[in-house]
Amino acid sequence: MRNIGICGAGLIGASWAVGFANHGYTVLVYDANPEIVSNFFKVVDQLADDLEIFKKVDLKKLKSSIKICDNLEQICKDSLLIQESIVEDLDEKKKIFLEFEKYASVDTILASSSSYLLPSKISEKLKNKQRCIVAHPALPPHVVPFVEICPSSETSLEVIEKAKDIYKTAHYVPIVLKKEIEGFVLNRLQGALLNEAVRLHEEGYASIDDIDISLKHALGIRWAFLGPFEIMDLNAPGGIGDSFTRYRKGIKKLAQQQNSVPEYTDEYIKKLESEQRERLKLTDREERTKKRNKLIALVRKLKLEQGE
Ligand SMILES: NC(=O)c1ccc[n+]([C@@H]2O[C@H](COP(=O)([O-])OP(=O)(O)OC[C@H]3O[C@@H](n4cnc5c(N)ncnc54)[C@H](O)[C@@H]3O)[C@@H](O)[C@H]2O)c1
Repeated sequence: MRNIGICGAGLIGASWAVGFANHGYTVLVYDANPEIVSNFFKVVDQLADDLEIFKKVDLKKLKSSIKICDNLEQICKDSLLIQESIVEDLDEKKKIFLEFEKYASVDTILASSSSYLLPSKISEKLKNKQRCIVAHPALPPHVVPFVEICPSSETSLEVIEKAKDIYKTAHYVPIVLKKEIEGFVLNRLQGALLNEAVRLHEEGYASIDDIDISLKHALGIRWAFLGPFEIMDLNAPGGIGDSFTRYRKGIKKLAQQQNSVPEYTDEYIKKLESEQRERLKLTDREERTKKRNKLIALVRKLKLEQGE
């Protein structure tokens, strides 16, 4: 059995489909929106172009490994794992997981791509909660090789190990949370940064352009190769302990100042949007998305060449 079921073929589902199909899996795709379905293989063509940047792609084979299905039952039957990628809405996810339970064998892993929701909530109404996880990717998962597996306290160790193996064979780098928390690791780190970016902008310390530049031309370049703990180990001759000893006073002082939540008021969002539209057009969003994917694929290529 080498089938992966994809439920929801929007931004994330289509990208997952390409990621799995490119590594020997047969991918069964279902989306409730006929427009998404009719456009699906055009999107696959575009995503495959990104893959070509860092690996050879047999486009004909890749496309023949993806099958569009008419209903949920078809993607559930005989699948190793179902990657749910519908809208981020707890009630919708709970409902669709109940449907999966109806049609999928008890051995099939039920994985949600959810960005924030807890697996214990999504699987709350299921009889077999032990095979449910959140498996959260980073956009776009056909080129970014990351997935964070968040089990609930009911998920079995066997399911976690099996899921890890599946993602690894599809060339993803899985991490596993030791216990569940909303937003998991990725969005909690990203959220902390986003809060600070908003605070600096809203309180008038820097422009959105300059805040973006600080990421693009400084932190982001390092972060492609090193995490925060690895970086701290290189920040002082004696390693991480030395770094924290030298800088903890400053780090703690900032953390105390950062200990509040921006309100994200409608008024602020309107102001942010208007400043954003002055420098970036919404009409070239598709072009910018393509450029993003291409540049990420080039970073992936560099990392592969460097044995990372
Ligand atoms: N966009 C991101 O940056 C990102 C990153 C990681 C994870 N995620 C998560 O992935 C999930 C999907 O997000 P997205 O950005 O792909 O959204 P999206 O709106 O692009 O796609 C959702 C798709 O699900 C389909 N759908 C909705 N209800 C359905 C149903 N009942 N049955 C079948 N198909 C259904 C829609 O037609 C749509 O094509 C969300 O849970 C989101 O939190 C998003």
